[in-house]
Amino acid sequence: MSRKPAVFLYRDGTLTEDGCIPGDPENITLLQNTVPSLLRLQEKYSLFMVTNQSEADREQITGEKAENVNQHLAAMLTAEGVNIKKWYHCKSIEQTPAFLLQAAEEFNLSLSRSFIIGNHPHDISAGESIGVFGLYVLTGHGKKYTETLPPEKPTFHIPGDAVEWILNHPDSEKDIHRNISKGADAVRRGKLVVFPTETVYGLGADALNPSAVAEIFKVKKRPLSDPLIVHVSDKQQVKSLVNDLSAKAELLIENFWPGPLSLVLPKSLQVPDIVTAGNHTVAVRMPNNPWTLKLIHLAGTPLAAPSANLFGYTSPTTAKHVREQLEGKYNVLIDGGACRVGVESTVLSLINDIPVLLRPGGVSIDEIRSIIGPVQIRGNNNLPNPQSPGMMTSHYSTDTPLVVYPEIPKKLEKDPHTGFILFGPPEKDFTGPVEVLSKHHILREAAVNLYAAMRRLDSMDLRLIAAHRFPDCGLGTAINDRLGKASGKK
Ligand code: TXA
Ligand code: MG
Repeated sequence: MSRKPAVFLYRDGTLTEDGCIPGDPENITLLQNTVPSLLRLQEKYSLFMVTNQSEADREQITGEKAENVNQHLAAMLTAEGVNIKKWYHCKSIEQTPAFLLQAAEEFNLSLSRSFIIGNHPHDISAGESIGVFGLYVLTGHGKKYTETLPPEKPTFHIPGDAVEWILNHPDSEKDIHRNISKGADAVRRGKLVVFPTETVYGLGADALNPSAVAEIFKVKKRPLSDPLIVHVSDKQQVKSLVNDLSAKAELLIENFWPGPLSLVLPKSLQVPDIVTAGNHTVAVRMPNNPWTLKLIHLAGTPLAAPSANLFGYTSPTTAKHVREQLEGKYNVLIDGGACRVGVESTVLSLINDIPVLLRPGGVSIDEIRSIIGPVQIRGNNNLPNPQSPGMMTSHYSTDTPLVVYPEIPKKLEKDPHTGFILFGPPEKDFTGPVEVLSKHHILREAAVNLYAAMRRLDSMDLRLIAAHRFPDCGLGTAINDRLGKASGKK
C-alpha cells in the first residue's frame, strides 16, 4: 500500500486560542474556520495533534488537568467529525523529529508529502530536518516570532489559510518552484503575475514592456496618471533604470534592501513612460521575499507592480484577498501566505537635495534619518512633482464608511452596527464586532493585521467602522496614514 501524506497540527495558539492550558476545558476556543478546514483536509491527509504542554512540564498545572484539556478538545473535534489519528506530547524545549518518525512508521506515512502547522519556530524546525514542510501561523505566540523566521517559510493569519495553501500545493517545494517558473514565463510573454512581498501582494508585469504595463492599469482600473513602483531582484539592476544613483541612494539601498523602501530617482530612457505616468522619475524597490526575488531573477526583467487590488481599495495581504477582487484577471498567482510587514513600502523621493517622504510605510522616517540625515515630509512645503502617492483624498478604502477617532465616542459603544479597529484589548464593552490588532500593543503586529481586519469588518454589513488613532511613531505613522486615507481624509 502506498504511503499516505499527513498533517501534524499543534494545539495551543495554532488550532485553539492560547489560554486553554491553565486547566479549564471550558476555556478552549477553536480559531475561526478551523473545523471546516480540518474536515476538508482530512479527505486527503491523516491528521495528528501535537502538544507542548509546557505548563504541565513546568508543573504549573497537573498532568491530569492537561490531559482533561486534551480529552475535551478531542471530544469537541470528534463531535464535529474531525478524526485525529493520534496525539503526540512533546516537550517544547526538546523538540525533535522523533515523534514524526514514529508516526511515519506506525501509520505508513510519506513524510516528504506531509506538513506541520505551528506557531513557534521550533514547531516547524522539528520537521524540517526530515523533509516535512512547515507552515507557520500568526495566531497564539506566532506574531512575536515573524522577524526571526526564515523568510522562505510561508506564514498565515489563521490555520484555515494554511490548510488552503496545503490543498493547493500538495508537493510543497516542487509546486512553489513550478509556480514561480510559470510566473516568470508569463512575465516574459507580457502577461500579469500576482506575487507576494513583505508589504502587500503586487500585480506585476515586465516593467520594460509598455503594453504589458498598460494591462495592469486596465485590470486595476487605475488612472494612468498614478505611476508604478519597479521591483528589482538585485541591486545592480537599478543602475539600468535610473540616471543617477546618488550617495544617499546607495546608502539607503545598502541599509534597507531588500525591504519596504521605494526610492524615487531620475529615470533612465529604458523605463517606458507608462510606468512613471510621464514623470522623469521612477520609483524602485527590492522586495524582501525570496520567492518573488527568484521570480524577478528568472523573468530576467524588473517588474512594474502596484498593490494587487482594485484602485482605491484596501491592499491585499493574503492570496485570498487578491482572488476576492481580481480572480481571473491575471495569469499566475504565487501564494506566499500572509505578508509579514502588512503595510506598503515607504516611498522616498531623492530628487531634491533634501529627500522627501512621499508615503510613510514599512521603514520609519526615523530609521531613514539615522542613515542619511534630514528628510522633509510631503505637505510641509510646496514640492515639485505633485503626482505622488496619497494625493488622492481617498485611498486604501473599505466600502463601509470608516472614521478615525482619538477616543471612540461613547454613543458608538452600544451600537451593534459599528465595528471597531483597536490597537490593544478594548477598555470598554463594545456591542459591535471588535478587531484588536495587537493584544500586547506591538505596532509591527498591528500592521500585519490591519488590512485583514479592515476587510473582515467590511464584509459584515456594518454602518460604520470606527478606528482608534494609533501612536504616531514607527509603523504607527503608516497605520494612521492608511486609516486616514481610508476615511477619505488627507
Ligand atoms: O509595498 C509596496 O510599495 C507595494 C508592493 C506591491 O511593492 N506596492 C504599492 O504600489 O503599494 P502602489 O502602486 O499601490 O503604490 C505606489 C505608490 C503610488 O501611490 C504612486 O503614486 C507612488 O508610489 N509612486 C510610484 N512612482 C512614483 C514616482 N515616480 N514619483 C512619485 N511617486 C511615485
Ligand atoms: Mg495601492
